[in-house]
Amino acid sequence: MSEAQIEEAVRALRASVPEVPHLGVVLGSGLSAFADSLTEPRVIPMDSVPHLPVPSVPGHAKNLCFGRIGKARLACFSGRVHAYEGHPLDRVVFGVRLLAALGCRAVLLTNAAGGIRDDLGPGSFMLISDQLNLTGQSPLVGPADDRGPRFPDMTEAYDAGLRTLGRDAAEALNLDLREGVYAGLLGPSYETPAEVRMLRTLGADAVGMSTVLEVIALRQRGVRVAGVSTITNRAAGLSASPLDHSEVQATAERVRRVFVEFLTRWATLASLELARE
Ligand code: HPA
Repeated sequence: MSEAQIEEAVRALRASVPEVPHLGVVLGSGLSAFADSLTEPRVIPMDSVPHLPVPSVPGHAKNLCFGRIGKARLACFSGRVHAYEGHPLDRVVFGVRLLAALGCRAVLLTNAAGGIRDDLGPGSFMLISDQLNLTGQSPLVGPADDRGPRFPDMTEAYDAGLRTLGRDAAEALNLDLREGVYAGLLGPSYETPAEVRMLRTLGADAVGMSTVLEVIALRQRGVRVAGVSTITNRAAGLSASPLDHSEVQATAERVRRVFVEFLTRWATLASLELARE
């Protein structure tokens, strides 16, 4: 039963990091540099945490890093597992449920995504306003989970207050932060041009293979959630070139410094707010 496994992972982590984190962060493809900006870092390899599934994708780091930004305590995953790796969904969301069980009251999720809307070119950033879960799956399927409602409300899945802080962080850095709807698909093949046209019609602004299941799991546990997509490429059929994972990694690398600056400022603002509550 995964709940007992989460408890066991919490106990193991508390033994080496007793402080309760305020804010959780999940870093997507090529975006793990943020973890290096934490002070008093404690880096825990994911494969040393009991039951925690470890990602297998190249370009994904595999650590859980505890540390601080100012006074705030953070727990930060560099790397995540995806449903396309073949894990059952309670394994896919194990990491974010672990953040909730450790005490995080808010989680910032980051990902790499393909831009669908015309203004979302490679290297741009999109604050996620809402999501389309098009994986055909949910981590909540199965017996009711008494740590939250059977039918969680998803009206404001991405927290309005945290989004405002994201906009404030971008403004302070003079960063052109776009905003839009993220569509999460199972993958691992990229979309066809016809699928991208369908996604645009459905209201998606960007597309990726992560995040949406984590958001559902976190909202069910009452954790506040926000997310930002780094647009690493135009979605399939919207540029002349075919898609390639190395392009995703290269763009993430190119924007690394700005991304780290933005996320650091956003996490700082979010932490200050959480500390006040
Ligand atoms: N599609 C799906 N996932 C992605 C993409 C994309 O174009 N870019 C980065 N992750």
